[in-house]
Amino acid sequence: MKIAVYSAQPYDRRFLEEARLQANAAAATSSESATGAASIEAAYFSDALTLDTIPLAQGCSAVCVFVNDQLDAAVLEALHASGVRAVLLRCAGFNNVDLQAGARLGLFMARVPAYAPEAVAEHALAMVMTLNRHTHRAYARVREGNFALDGLLGMTLHGKTVGIVGAGQIGAAAARIFHGLGCHVLISDPTPLPQLAGVAQQVPLEQLLAGADIVSLHCPLMDSTRHMINATSLASMKPGAMLVNTSRGGLIDTAAVIEALKSRQLGALAIDVYEQEASLFFHDHSSDIIADDVFQRLLTFPNVLVTGHQGFFTIEAMREIAAITYRNLACYLQHQPCPNLLPAGAAAPAKP
Ligand code: NAI
Repeated sequence: MKIAVYSAQPYDRRFLEEARLQANAAAATSSESATGAASIEAAYFSDALTLDTIPLAQGCSAVCVFVNDQLDAAVLEALHASGVRAVLLRCAGFNNVDLQAGARLGLFMARVPAYAPEAVAEHALAMVMTLNRHTHRAYARVREGNFALDGLLGMTLHGKTVGIVGAGQIGAAAARIFHGLGCHVLISDPTPLPQLAGVAQQVPLEQLLAGADIVSLHCPLMDSTRHMINATSLASMKPGAMLVNTSRGGLIDTAAVIEALKSRQLGALAIDVYEQEASLFFHDHSSDIIADDVFQRLLTFPNVLVTGHQGFFTIEAMREIAAITYRNLACYLQHQPCPNLLPAGAAAPAKP
């Protein structure tokens, strides 16, 4: 069988090829091979999956996709018509998938729910540290022989209050990290989290926003969480607080955040994700004119730090993502129960 890998960068190919060869070697030595388990071939495309790029999957019975690939009803129907029966997400979030359409078509759809939650939590910490102590500016200054400290003043994190919105795999890892730094950690999550007792205090969102010096978002993007950070919630935050988003761009109303930065109600912003990131992230646009004025405005603030969706990007996470993706495929091929199936026919996904 053949799999079409969309949005494939050279680093995706490196880790996915490693896992594919391992999967084929395991199949060759397993009893399944004796009963005819086919070896897996892969075709890699740098293009994102859209209606226009579906022909690339011709002859493939599975596609492997990432965070900004389009998996709405029209795309899923066209993939199904072209013979695709399995959709493998090499990511945790699935806000870009029409679950009901997938279920209606009988597609096997699986994701990688947890690979290295600490990798994303550590990136959130890196962003907080960079923005708070201005190490990005200090690095450039020192290389120019400028050792002035003016403008580099930060705050001591020990003793500060950090609010974690969504304490699943990644949020819980972030809570433990900030607890380890001596911060007072608040968490807001609809699920009771007794396992974090002693590490964090679970409170309603309003209390978290009002009390936190740093708010870090780690909940999934759904219709109910879209723009959870808006003009009203920003006004209820502690004046001068820092907002960190390593989850999904749509959690934040960017226009409202820009106003809050201009009025200084919001003290600093660190984002690894952006609502309109699909047309920007994961590609080199350094020679292009970027037409997104909202994004360009964000970059003009000295107290805004943007990274291009790299929270997951560690060797360990990439290896785990590739291995689990091929394990999911093996479940499909061998008709075994898969623990990572997307919730079939759940509520319609968040609108783009
Ligand atoms: P998870 O499913 O383990 O945890 C999500 C948590 O959010 C759950 O505990 C859930 O109860 C909670 N939640 C749901 N609705 C909420 C609400 N309205 N308010 C507060 N909490 C709410 O997910 P995980 O693995 O921790 O990932 C979190 C998000 O991080 C993913 O949805 C994904 O969008 C993002 N992500 C970003 C990456 C990056 O590279 N920047 C990499 C991987 C994931």
